[in-house]
Amino acid sequence: MSEVNQWRTGIKSPMKFTLQSTAPETQTRGFFVALTHEEALKSLQNTYKINGLDATLATTQFKAGFNDTLPLIEKIAAYPNALLIGLGDLAELKAAKLAKLAQSVIKTVNTKFQHIVLDISALPVELHYLFALSLTQANYSFNEFKSKKTETLLERIDLIATSTTLDADQLSLIEALASGQGLARDLGNRPGNICFPEYLAEQAKALAAEFPDLLKVSVLDEQQMADLGMNAFLAVSKGSARPGRLITLEYNAQLEQAPVVLVGKGVTFDTGGISLKPAQGMDEMKFDMCGAASVLGTMRTLCESRLPIHVVGAVAAAENMPSDKATRPGDIVTTMSGQTVEILNTDAEGRLVLCDTLTYIKRFNPSVVIDIATLTGACVVALGKVVSGLFSPDDELALELQHAGEDAFDRVWRLPVMDEYQELLDSPFADMANIGGPHGGAITAACFLQRFTQDYRWAHLDVAGTAWLSGTAKGATGRPVPLLVQFLANRVKANA
Ligand code: BES
Ligand code: MN
Ligand code: ZN
Repeated sequence: MSEVNQWRTGIKSPMKFTLQSTAPETQTRGFFVALTHEEALKSLQNTYKINGLDATLATTQFKAGFNDTLPLIEKIAAYPNALLIGLGDLAELKAAKLAKLAQSVIKTVNTKFQHIVLDISALPVELHYLFALSLTQANYSFNEFKSKKTETLLERIDLIATSTTLDADQLSLIEALASGQGLARDLGNRPGNICFPEYLAEQAKALAAEFPDLLKVSVLDEQQMADLGMNAFLAVSKGSARPGRLITLEYNAQLEQAPVVLVGKGVTFDTGGISLKPAQGMDEMKFDMCGAASVLGTMRTLCESRLPIHVVGAVAAAENMPSDKATRPGDIVTTMSGQTVEILNTDAEGRLVLCDTLTYIKRFNPSVVIDIATLTGACVVALGKVVSGLFSPDDELALELQHAGEDAFDRVWRLPVMDEYQELLDSPFADMANIGGPHGGAITAACFLQRFTQDYRWAHLDVAGTAWLSGTAKGATGRPVPLLVQFLANRVKANA
């Protein structure tokens, strides 16, 4: 299908990191940046012999306050172009502030220089990993559909640190993460006329072709899903001219261990179906496949970093459209599990594609299953756009995900899945309805999914608030790829 392949864009040239304890003193064409705070200015002066620093500090009043910048033009012999960035009070410097610093670094240089020499010695060592990760996130840009592209030149960052917790393994994990999170963002940002279910299947196949020794891909079409009885899934995709696809990718299939299975909601556009959404802001429903994008992005990171763990990614790809073929409110379907569902609102479609996928993946005999979905507006109301919603009846698994979220600064907040909410899903006609009424919408959605996850350990991530930003910074964030990769990396470490 030519339309599918048209936008299979090449992999962007990845940014590379090096790590040294001292900066090269010979003339370099790179841009020099140093993070600093008031007490560190002296040692900076000793190391780099900044010409007339005291006078410059006096005239500019630069006190290295948080995110204050001081350009130094031709004041350091080896680095004609240099910039100091203040860290402010170190006691108040938290992971949450690193993104701003990283943006200052990237904004100043990325269209002008191919490489940066970046002295992070003044940054507390426990923040080095997250700062390097923030740099990759700040360096992301998306201009596939602009006829005038703003050229980013930046290819390499040479980190300088007198002492650090970073090592070569961590740096290559960060590079792999940048690539996987970048893929998730690209897929999220591509519009529904480009990125539709078959497109996601093509992307999965392309990834498997790139890493044939690591990945096995399988794609089910609608007939195959019908044969399996996946009528809830098909109730969503049947309204669209774009047929649905169930995509699975198996990473490290040869490993004996039971896999972690990641299930992503891949609604490539969510109009709401016959329960049509209002026009205002509907364009953002191209992001309704960001759960799927995070699964594909995580698979890419795994391949590039070759983490020794068995993982299956499953993507439930469908488009939710109104048409003469579309599901009507009140229609009843039998899911692959045998349970029946009265579809009272066709806009609660994510849980319909997910429930059959959650039944399908039982065949992989999972050790744990995590689904990732832009599932409910109610989750955005509850938690805003800072943390993702975490739902799990499994305290240990919930804790593991919470810790991974802190480690990667891609945080989650746990909300309850309790039996008391289940009755809100009662239907007079079927085993359950697909909506639970106006109260606790994120929770009733999780409760619906829970009915299909009884045979394994399970957690649900509602990323409706965190997978993309709106307004002037509109675009996919690539969350929760850092969280998922961290969760898997922590498991590898724990089993080592
Ligand atoms: N994809 C939406 C959830 C969503 C809405 C995410 C807004 C981010 C921003 C989902 O399919 C949906 O429409 N959910 C409904 C459920 C309702 C009908 C029970 C919602 O949240 O309104
Ligand atoms: Mn919807
Ligand atoms: Zn949706």
